[in-house]
Amino acid sequence: MHEVVVAADREALAQLAAEFIARLAERSEKDRFHMALCGGKTPRLLYRKLASPPIVDEIPWQNLHIWWGDERAVGPESRESNYKMARETFLERAPISDDRVHRIEGELGAKRAAVEYERTLMSQFSGDVGFDLILLGVGVDGHTASIFPSGMDQLSEGRPVAVTHGGTPPLDRVTVTLDVINASSQVVFLVEGQEKAEIVERVLMSDETLPASRVSPAAGDDHLHFFLDRAAAYELDRLAER
Ligand code: 6PG
Repeated sequence: MHEVVVAADREALAQLAAEFIARLAERSEKDRFHMALCGGKTPRLLYRKLASPPIVDEIPWQNLHIWWGDERAVGPESRESNYKMARETFLERAPISDDRVHRIEGELGAKRAAVEYERTLMSQFSGDVGFDLILLGVGVDGHTASIFPSGMDQLSEGRPVAVTHGGTPPLDRVTVTLDVINASSQVVFLVEGQEKAEIVERVLMSDETLPASRVSPAAGDDHLHFFLDRAAAYELDRLAER
């Protein structure tokens, strides 16, 4: 059974998720812990907490490799860059060396950036590409990473990386595919806000028309975690009361 954690508010959500991530990284017996980040607004507070005491002192940064689940086809200084957001909210302040931060080079354009990212992933992972932990958000349309409802079925062609187009503003994007997400050892959704309550209910009710509903870790359903704030869990509460 997947885990659903409901936090009182967005501050508590970020704190609980940061503690969860620190525990995962700390308990990993591996000398490399591959963590893929998501973009958007939701993870900002979480990322700040990862690089602030006490959490920053609990994470074995010497083991961490940072990746992205998706990126917009923009440069690292663009306000739309997921890399820029992560750099400014935590990478600049965390004790992690640049050679362990594997950004998607959106400035190359989506097609070339996807080829380069796939090459880097294949060089780091022998066999199936899968992270130790991947963080995911959910859009109000049920997209996750940059896998959008339209064209979702074309994405699982056995490739780890794909090019898509969408989001707000609509941009060319590079995304890992569901193959990679589901090959990852731990999958964490981070969702906040009343505007996500309806889509959260649809995802948790396994509405297969939604990319986020297709997330199903091969490691087992107990490797899938939904970290929600009370507002995003609103419809679940109503469901439980029925
Ligand atoms: C992106 C993200 C995307 C995001 C959702 C939720 O590049 O935009 O990876 O999948 O997680 O759109 O975004 P918010 O957190 O801003 O609601």
